[in-house]
Amino acid sequence: MKKFLSLLAVSAMLLTGCSSTSTATTTTTAPAEATTEAATGKEVKVGVSIYKFDDNFMTLYRNEIENYFGTLKDGNTYNVTIQDGKGDQAEQTNQIDNFIAQDYDVLIINREPSEEDMKAYDGTDYQGMYTYVGADARQSGKFQGEIVADLADKGDLNGDGTLQYVMIQGDPENVDAQYRTEFSISQYEEVSGLKTEQLDMQRGDWDQAKGQEIAANDLTKFGDKVEVIFCNNDAMALGAAQAITAAGRTVGKDIYLLGVDALTDALSMIADGTMTGTVFNDHLNQAHTAVDCAVKAVNGEKLDAYYWVDYVKVTTDNVAD
Ligand code: GAL
Repeated sequence: MKKFLSLLAVSAMLLTGCSSTSTATTTTTAPAEATTEAATGKEVKVGVSIYKFDDNFMTLYRNEIENYFGTLKDGNTYNVTIQDGKGDQAEQTNQIDNFIAQDYDVLIINREPSEEDMKAYDGTDYQGMYTYVGADARQSGKFQGEIVADLADKGDLNGDGTLQYVMIQGDPENVDAQYRTEFSISQYEEVSGLKTEQLDMQRGDWDQAKGQEIAANDLTKFGDKVEVIFCNNDAMALGAAQAITAAGRTVGKDIYLLGVDALTDALSMIADGTMTGTVFNDHLNQAHTAVDCAVKAVNGEKLDAYYWVDYVKVTTDNVAD
């Protein structure tokens, strides 16, 4: 049997392999309801490679992958091994090489490949055996920009016709960070008709402590000039919120704060007004679609190149939902 699959959720690629240093292995045997199913039930080795376990959003995603495999009732046995890349590319590559060497059937790997890489298998025997499951980060950026443009004052607290903002980026090599940074601002300008001035942009690597440090420095340096802090994710926005409070500023009154992901803490803050808005990064749908694709691939069905999952804008208007 030719094995060469892969999926992604929030980014992925597929191959074959196996792992030795597993961090989490779950075996799920789906009860077969008919004898015929039991006879056809397969043992499926699934390798999941997460760039870093210590990441709030990726934790929600990976837990849901594991949970959802556990709900499958198709007669197959899914042995799911989830590994922690620890934020180290060499480490993650090594783990993936091991999955392949150990003849895993399906890989779920996180990070969106470039379009060029996605096309590399077009026209080969592997076409339809790899896919990307994820959200289009351009949409999340646009939604952030629209949330600010839709505020009564369009975020322009000082009324000078220009939005002065700080951008706290995730990992700048990650397409999610690149698109959110770019599209939040271009969409803001388009919808509001106002100009923008970037006071600062720093990489916060998706990390709360870094978000706090960057925001604290910028609030000291630029003071009341800062009208909006855009964060590429909620973890960094939670950090920025701590810095905003420490600087004696008040979200919704003299500053605005945006994130992405819709972490539980961010939702509570939107409900109580200490954060302006976020964008729901649908880990449930992304995890379920990735697993559904894995199952299809195992059953020999061809996959599309992309399966997109929508983001959802979250403000005080709909946070209760
Ligand atoms: C993003 C998410 C971030 C972080 C990142 C990791 O989609 O919004 O919080 O998890 O993925 O690549």
